[in-house]
Amino acid sequence: MLLSKKQIFFLTNLNKNDLIIKIMLKNLTFPVTPSVLIVDDILSNLELIEAVVKGEGYEVLKAMNARDAISLFEERQPDIAVLDVMMPEIDGFQLCQILKDMAGKRYFPIILLTALNDKESRIRGIECGADDFISKPFEPRAFLAKLKSLLRIKFLYDELDHSENIILTLAVALEARDPYTRGHSTRVGDLSREFAEYIGLSNYDQDMIRKAGLLHDIGKIGLSETLLLKPSRLTEQEHDVIKRHPIIGEEICKPLNSLQMILPAIRHHHERWDGKGFPDGLKGDEIPLYARILSIVDSFDAMLSERPYRKGRSFREVLEIFKREREYGQWDPVLVGNFIEMLNVLGEEYIVNNRIAYKLER
Ligand SMILES: [Fe+2]
Repeated sequence: MLLSKKQIFFLTNLNKNDLIIKIMLKNLTFPVTPSVLIVDDILSNLELIEAVVKGEGYEVLKAMNARDAISLFEERQPDIAVLDVMMPEIDGFQLCQILKDMAGKRYFPIILLTALNDKESRIRGIECGADDFISKPFEPRAFLAKLKSLLRIKFLYDELDHSENIILTLAVALEARDPYTRGHSTRVGDLSREFAEYIGLSNYDQDMIRKAGLLHDIGKIGLSETLLLKPSRLTEQEHDVIKRHPIIGEEICKPLNSLQMILPAIRHHHERWDGKGFPDGLKGDEIPLYARILSIVDSFDAMLSERPYRKGRSFREVLEIFKREREYGQWDPVLVGNFIEMLNVLGEEYIVNNRIAYKLER
């Protein structure tokens, strides 16, 4: 299990009535019987591989052509596939490519069965995304060793995905307990991604910034509802407690390799360009780019939203505040310029409609 003791502490110290979080905690286990999809148009070959795989206690899904294999893949979501290369209509290479495409970002290992020393087939197999090869007639022990090693990698990836999804779901569940912030992180994630695209950052950066937006306030998990929902302005002491959320958020996400790139964005999303922010008082370019982007989009969404102690501002009012503040040093002035430009391109209707659509969806 990838959750650290610190994370479990935060999770178990949540409001005990929070049903969504309780359900998620119950689901921190993974399936143990791997399922193997075997595809071969010759029945005797199919049965031979089936016997070897079943001998290991794995679940076997069999198909004698690509079409059946695709249906099985969709219905049963196997963990790995073993495909014969020589098949009529859609051959093993094409099927390999189709299944890899269907798996999308998910890691789905595929072993191709090729004739002995068929170098050409192996090169084509690699081009189609195959992970390993077995020569026919095959040697069961070598085959099982390859199967197991690929399954190990597959489950490692799944576990990482699973842990990341838990944290992302947690972020959304967390703000659902507060009617004033509901949908905030999702909107900040989506608009930050859009902004990153607007200023020409790569697809990878856009992806990371969206995640950072979703998770930027995850550290509020340790804060009580009384504090989060307080109808009046906060005292200085209460402010100090809230100011710890970027550090707590960083701690929660730290154990996940896939989130390493966004840790600085979570920690520094309340820094200010003039150095008067928290937690580290970074100044100007010292503040990581993702954090500078988040800080702008986070403030934008917060200003449009209603709070227990004030009404939400209009799109035009917020735009004016950004134009004014550009000179006062809260945000990176170049980025604020880009942001105002993007808002003018997208238009008020787009922003307001997206916010309403999001509310209706929920
Ligand atoms: Fe925050």
